[in-house]
Amino acid sequence: MILDVQEVNKTFDQPGSGRLQVLTGVGFSIDRRETAAIVGQSGSGKTTLLSLIAGLDHPDSGRIILDNRDLAGMNQDGLSRYRARKIGIIFQQFHLMPHLTARENISLPLEIHNSDRIAERTDAMLEQVGLADRRHHLPGQLSGGECQRVAIARALVIKPSLLLADEPTGNLDTETGEVVANLLFDLVEKDEKSMVLVTHNPELAARCHRVCRLDKGRLT
Ligand SMILES: Nc1ncnc2c1ncn2[C@@H]1O[C@H](COP(=O)(O)OP(=O)(O)OP(=O)(O)O)[C@@H](O)[C@H]1O
Ligand SMILES: [Mg+2]
Repeated sequence: MILDVQEVNKTFDQPGSGRLQVLTGVGFSIDRRETAAIVGQSGSGKTTLLSLIAGLDHPDSGRIILDNRDLAGMNQDGLSRYRARKIGIIFQQFHLMPHLTARENISLPLEIHNSDRIAERTDAMLEQVGLADRRHHLPGQLSGGECQRVAIARALVIKPSLLLADEPTGNLDTETGEVVANLLFDLVEKDEKSMVLVTHNPELAARCHRVCRLDKGRLT
């Protein structure tokens, strides 16, 4: 098992009106090489759940165990390092560094980790996402689909145990979305990655081994 989410509750302070219960007793687990889609209406808590799994925020109660380690047991520094080593994240809005080229965006996680063979691994990733000829372009000089391919490469270059993707095709037109989805699933299958994929798109969800539905903060 790569990820075990147990009885997670999460509330947020509502500006002016008490607390909002966003996740209620959410539990599920994912095996190695397994992919799971999380679907649910807008506001059902999907992004919140991903950010808890990523260790970017903490649950009020419950446990999140990533690769046999309870995230709650780690201090901020340890958690950041663990996350950076274990998790690749792809966002709907790409979140690329605007002043870095495609190649520099992809190599950044490797630089942060002081990895070896940075140039070689970055170039291999650029090839895999079909952007070798766009390596020196800035995000502003790339199309949406190309930006998302850079983001996929950046998430996978560290060889994470778990890939988290939040609406990775949500900002792309249908055709480009399909190209990006195909690439994502090809790479996930080839590298035998585990993935949690949040999406509104039923076709995309159906490509995962399992589909979990969030309904008003409860998993059904
Ligand atoms: N930091 C926050 N403070 C207060 N409320 C928040 C915060 N983050 C999220 N919420 C609320 O929690 C609920 C769930 O938000 P979340 O972003 O997880 O939904 P979602 O399922 O990802 O929706 P979408 O499909 O629109 O992306 C929403 O009602 C939102 O307003
Ligand atoms: Mg969301």
